[in-house]
Amino acid sequence: MCGIVGYIGRRPAAPILLDGLEKLEYRGYDSAGIAVRDGNGPVAVVKAQGRLRVLSDKTDHGKAIAGNCGIGHTRWATHGEPTETNAHPHVSETVTGIHNGIIENYQELKDKLTKNGYVFYSDTDTEVAIKLIDYYYKKYAHTPVDAINHAMVRIRGSYAFALLFNDYPEEIYVARKDSPMIIGEGEGEHYLASDVPAILKYTRSVYYIGNLEIGRLTADSLTFYNLDGDEIQKEKKEIEWDAAAAERGGFEHYMMKEIHEQPTAVRDTLHSLAHGDHIDLSEVGLTDEDLRSFSQICIVACGSAWHVGMVCKYVMEDLARIPVQVDLASEFRYRRPILDQNALVIIISQSGETADSLAALRLSKQMGIRTLAIVNVVGSSIAREADMVLYTVAGPEIAVATTKAYSAQLIAGYCLAIQLGLARGELTEERYTELIRELDTLPGKIERILEDKERLQWFASKQVAAKDIFYIGRGIDYAISLEGSLKAKEISYIHSEAYAAGELKHGTISLLEEGTLVIGILTQQELFEKTVSNLVECKSRGAYLMGLTVNGHYEIEDTVSFAVYIPKTDDHFMASLAVIPLQLLGYYISVGRGLDVDKPRNLAKSVTVE
Ligand code: G6P
Repeated sequence: MCGIVGYIGRRPAAPILLDGLEKLEYRGYDSAGIAVRDGNGPVAVVKAQGRLRVLSDKTDHGKAIAGNCGIGHTRWATHGEPTETNAHPHVSETVTGIHNGIIENYQELKDKLTKNGYVFYSDTDTEVAIKLIDYYYKKYAHTPVDAINHAMVRIRGSYAFALLFNDYPEEIYVARKDSPMIIGEGEGEHYLASDVPAILKYTRSVYYIGNLEIGRLTADSLTFYNLDGDEIQKEKKEIEWDAAAAERGGFEHYMMKEIHEQPTAVRDTLHSLAHGDHIDLSEVGLTDEDLRSFSQICIVACGSAWHVGMVCKYVMEDLARIPVQVDLASEFRYRRPILDQNALVIIISQSGETADSLAALRLSKQMGIRTLAIVNVVGSSIAREADMVLYTVAGPEIAVATTKAYSAQLIAGYCLAIQLGLARGELTEERYTELIRELDTLPGKIERILEDKERLQWFASKQVAAKDIFYIGRGIDYAISLEGSLKAKEISYIHSEAYAAGELKHGTISLLEEGTLVIGILTQQELFEKTVSNLVECKSRGAYLMGLTVNGHYEIEDTVSFAVYIPKTDDHFMASLAVIPLQLLGYYISVGRGLDVDKPRNLAKSVTVE
């Protein structure tokens, strides 16, 4: 978490830094700060507690600070409270710097530096790192690269640093390990950022700086070094996302814009994998022979990506009759998991940077298991380290609560399931074609659901005071409940639970009070009546019921007070449609409660700490 940016060129740096930070605010918004240098002059540092707009007001939108070279930071607090003192940049005698990541051995380093006369003003691990670089710069090193190299050898943990050395005006130094950073190239200018949206407006030519590598940026040159200080060559890549994709485009919130981008995200992801009536995984690197060779699948992810995994388990097991286990990355990595050597591990991640998911990927590789990443951000760490990558084509997702990336991940999962089913002889050609054709209808069906959003807006307006919401369902409907419930929690701050409908009466039902909202998800034909019975049990204990089901199941109105209908599709693909009203419900309740939909409290979109 935390977002970092940098600019060096011929234009005023501060407004560009603030603009970039705005695009990265989803990575943290406890405080923000910038450091800008005007030629050989001193480095000017301005910081502010709270949202970026406070810093922006303080600097007259950056106009109050002159200079063509600078770095900026938006913080999600790890070490130390979210105060102005703890805000980045941090300053030492020779170096000013910003950092995204966590220095695990910061206490040991701090003690060493304190013994050497250093004084610390903040509680952050970053100040320790900056002063460690200062220490090596003064003690042994004759160049910034030397000093950074010395520090990198001593530091344990993850980092993306951007540094200004007092003795080297008009240069920015960067270094990274396990935290994301890209370098952008313009005409006589260079950028650095944690993520693509921060620089998309200015350039699409980027370099991915690797683990344990260092970069030196000037307006006209870029040099990369390895840990030995030797120069290394890097290949320039072009980002395909277009600049407008990272703007709000007339919507009040990014989340609403991204909800509306789902038909496109689903269509584009599908068409990147399915050509006509066939799915082609050759670009991913998976042949039908590979698909036949796997003895089991293990899906590992965090948050909503884990919910996608839960849907995929039902779909893959049913269509391809292969055992699928779904693990939370934070649990998987410390559990000494047992996997067959012919297993396939699938890591699902929007950002491709989630620390636990990355660690799970590395563990799987160490175990000698083949790994496939389903990732949205091209060139991200997980994408680069996995044996195979399947890119979702959702474009940049800015709102902290995921919507379009979730939907794109589902499609990727369905395509894999269908191809597995055919390759393993579980699907006939006819059924295979029928399923692919059905996938093609999903974008249009999502559009139809979106057209009816006002009904949900009305219902949400009645729920703004809700204390608890329970989401229940069976099978895929249970997996959908998990995502619906998370949407309610993360953006409307309403306590919410997702429960397998049949499990409710083993304890949780005692939480129901008069008027508690229970939302039943009933999209699975075979399970419809079972879940209706569970809803009736809730109703008889005073619950107020909403039902989400498929067009035609109008009998649900005998049981629930408010019914939402979605178009018919194959039962396996229902999550793609059912999630849309649940996203809208979470969104409208959040807006109705006057909350910050795109940047909910305490959260960050990209969780690069474990
Ligand atoms: C955070 C986000 C979630 C996301 C999860 C995993 O918690 O708020 O929306 O699902 O991280 O992120 P990833 O980038 O790995 O999909």
